[in-house]
Amino acid sequence: MPIAKISPSMLSSDFSSLAAEAHRMVKNGADWLHMDVMDGHFVPNITIDCHLMVSNPEKWVDDFAKAGASMYCFHIEATNEPEALIEKIKKAGMKVGVAIKPKTPIDTVYSLVDKIDMCLVMTVEPGFGGQKFMTDCMPKVKILREKFPELDIEVDGGLALDTIDQAVQAGANVIVAGTSVFKAENPKEVISTFREKVNT
Ligand code: DX5
Ligand code: ZN
Repeated sequence: MPIAKISPSMLSSDFSSLAAEAHRMVKNGADWLHMDVMDGHFVPNITIDCHLMVSNPEKWVDDFAKAGASMYCFHIEATNEPEALIEKIKKAGMKVGVAIKPKTPIDTVYSLVDKIDMCLVMTVEPGFGGQKFMTDCMPKVKILREKFPELDIEVDGGLALDTIDQAVQAGANVIVAGTSVFKAENPKEVISTFREKVNT
């Protein structure tokens, strides 16, 4: 399994001091920072790895590249032409992630895996932080890990000290965590526990 990358979700941060919150997470050991983007259409609320929970993900590729995004992760449910979109993202100089919602079957991504850097298997319905981890998404992670031993597999939603084991046992190695990291008394400890669980 590829090594752990722990990616605190900025959705759970204090929006009035984003830069300080980002620094706080990096200082506490974060590998990546997870930026959630919602359009009020694909998901029902509006807010500010970029995880694009938007319809027409094609539309924002260049803007995100210009803004300095390193990975552009779009939802498979939001496009009819994933291959063309993948090419566009690569041309813009970003890594490519493909996200799938809990009810979307995993085989929808198989043909794309050799063209992408990461698959994000959502473990809550996208749209809000602080939701309950969906154990029934774990078989999808397991199948994906069995088929693609080298792929970065990200899980997002409800990851915490009491759910990380299930995700790791299924084969996830990129851990997004909002509430459990940002609201922790000791975020450093939580991040390093996640990392140890993935890497052992
Ligand atoms: C939800 C977002 C998540 C969210 C996770 O749609 O994609 O990244 O911030 O938050 P927690 O870890 O609190 O479930
Ligand atoms: Zn997310």
